[in-house]
Amino acid sequence: MVDKPTILVTGGAGYIGSHAVLMLKQAGYPVVILDNLVYGHRDLVETVLQVELVEGDTNDRPLLDRLFATHDIGAVMHFAAYAYVGESVSDPAKYYRNNVIGTITLLEAMLAANIKHFVFSSTCATYGIPKTVPIPEDHPQSPINPYGATKLMVEQILADFDTAYGLKSVCFRYFNAAGADPVGQLGEDHLPETHLIPLVLQTALGVRESVSVFGTDYPTPDGTCIRDYIHVMDLASAHVLGLEYLLQGGESNKFNLGNGSGFSVKQVIETARKITGREILAIEHDRRPGDPPALIGSGEKARTVLGWQPEYGDLEQIISHAWSWHQKRHQPA
Ligand SMILES: NC(=O)c1ccc[n+]([C@@H]2O[C@H](COP(=O)([O-])OP(=O)(O)OC[C@H]3O[C@@H](n4cnc5c(N)ncnc54)[C@H](O)[C@@H]3O)[C@@H](O)[C@H]2O)c1
Repeated sequence: MVDKPTILVTGGAGYIGSHAVLMLKQAGYPVVILDNLVYGHRDLVETVLQVELVEGDTNDRPLLDRLFATHDIGAVMHFAAYAYVGESVSDPAKYYRNNVIGTITLLEAMLAANIKHFVFSSTCATYGIPKTVPIPEDHPQSPINPYGATKLMVEQILADFDTAYGLKSVCFRYFNAAGADPVGQLGEDHLPETHLIPLVLQTALGVRESVSVFGTDYPTPDGTCIRDYIHVMDLASAHVLGLEYLLQGGESNKFNLGNGSGFSVKQVIETARKITGREILAIEHDRRPGDPPALIGSGEKARTVLGWQPEYGDLEQIISHAWSWHQKRHQPA
């Protein structure tokens, strides 16, 4: 049997990256994590993932050169980025430096080490306000904030790096990552937290007093925004398939990772009340600027081309996995 190549996972101490590391390990790939630990969790790498953690930054070219010289890396999965939309508006320089320049630095170091397979965390935020839902991959990309712009720039850089240098990439445009490892060892722990499901569950736990509902007059069945929640383990399985597609000689490609259906803010809160059995105080506010009524992604292309079969499309399952994790993380026995 041929040994599987070692995969460098940037941002592997973060939410989605850590679940991808878990799945890569289960699929038999040796893994090295590069994470600057600005938002990552050393404890989860050491206790759960138990792979080598190189603490460092994608902007540190000498560190990257040393890393590639001392490890036989076959491909890179690149999760490392800053991802707070509001902060990207108030401090765009931070986002262009980290998400764009950091990625170029990483790609140049890869090319110098002759590593030419790259899996990239892009986002539905590259589409901006959708003209149609479910959104297909060929929908125009017109981001409405610097965060989305940084991801679209990297997609463009990757297309040019393929043409010029033969670097093959898969870009995954995620919709709303949610849920947690069903075994309960890993989960979402962002600080600050801005995602709906963890905010709702932290309210259920009493860590927060209430959860805000922004806008109740959207043209949706219950008036609140609809989003496509994709289970983090389904994201992780797509990454392993995307990696294998590249290792088998696949051409550069771009895929949405969404369920093709969505749930409203009110549905999420109601389902969380049911699963947790707790009161969750929801306070209604005006709409926030820039929030489209519905964001739903078609995942058909990933199913057809990669053979991706998401397992956890059910909202109750997504929230109950997240709930187990939140109870353990915020109220340990
Ligand atoms: N969470 C979502 O719903 C979602 C949706 C679409 C796209 N994404 C993208 O997926 C990726 C992972 O998101 P997440 O929710 O797991 O975020 P996260 O913050 O939990 O993970 C990102 C990790 O990258 C690390 N990092 C950031 N910049 C770095 C750098 N320059 N060098 C080294 N490490 C660095 C952080 O410390 C953190 O551990 C990001 O690229 C994000 O833009 C996330």
